[in-house]
Amino acid sequence: MIVRRALRATKRMLRSAGLGDPGVYLDFSNRLTSAKHVDAMLTRIADVVEAWLSSQAIIPNLVAFDVRQEVRGFFASYLSSPFRAAVGGSRFNKILWLTLLAKALRPTVIIDSGTYAGASAWALSLGVPDARILSFDIDLSQLRLRQPNCEYFQCDWFTHDLAKFDLSRSLCYFDDHVDQVRRVLEARERNIPFAVFDDDLPVSCFAVMAPSPARLPKLEFIGDPSLEHGEVVEWLWNGSPRRWIVDKNYLEKGRAAIKAAERLPDLGAITGIRVMSPKLVALCPNAG
Ligand SMILES: C[S@@+](CC[C@H](N)C(=O)[O-])C[C@H]1O[C@@H](n2cnc3c(N)ncnc32)[C@H](O)[C@@H]1O
Repeated sequence: MIVRRALRATKRMLRSAGLGDPGVYLDFSNRLTSAKHVDAMLTRIADVVEAWLSSQAIIPNLVAFDVRQEVRGFFASYLSSPFRAAVGGSRFNKILWLTLLAKALRPTVIIDSGTYAGASAWALSLGVPDARILSFDIDLSQLRLRQPNCEYFQCDWFTHDLAKFDLSRSLCYFDDHVDQVRRVLEARERNIPFAVFDDDLPVSCFAVMAPSPARLPKLEFIGDPSLEHGEVVEWLWNGSPRRWIVDKNYLEKGRAAIKAAERLPDLGAITGIRVMSPKLVALCPNAG
């Protein structure tokens, strides 16, 4: 209710400033309701996911599951969840992938870095209700819904003692606005085999989400031939200049820790929800 009122007020303000209707709606507020067409949309999503699962080379021992049934179940759960966002958050397309990847990987331990309202922990929990999920945020004040198989910690995941866990079948989800090469190196250090990254934006578009250079580099920067060691990348954030200096040696460390990486297929052309798809990363084992 409060969110809806805030959205209406924002729209009124933007209209009065001559900016027109910004089209800010919660995911699926305006949506198909005819059962046949809803079903066709969910079938198209499931087809994309099934095609990716059967062609991908990153998960060697994939666990088979009924993708159509999972997509239908997730859609119904999402509509009645408190996580339908209009902007930011994880949005339908991204957190659906979390449920499906959790099903396919069947991890025993999951690290969710960046709890916010709890949407990613919820989606991961739907995928593997019997896994142990540890969700971390430096500020847990926005948490809306707790999952029975999830513990929530107000700290950075790398400061938390995980010695009692067997991490050989674990998965990390990083959606915490922290330097992504740092996260890759941390996950590799703890011998975590798979990590999923949100907001892995290329140099051409990271600036829309980078109030601070502390959020850089993104994994996309690793293979970017336009970046030269020592050069300055500059951008504007709300009119204020920001800068980040390219460190190729650091980017190379990130590259060396990654065995394989794949961007998950974009579902935006089917759902109409435009967000960058997450990236799945397989990490090299820690030799040290
Ligand atoms: C985009 S939100 C996370 C969204 C959430 N995963 C979801 O599905 O809705 C990013 C969150 O990262 C948190 N954050 C910032 N620095 C962090 C850190 N070092 N460790 C964990 N979380 C952090 C912020 O407080 C914020 O709540």
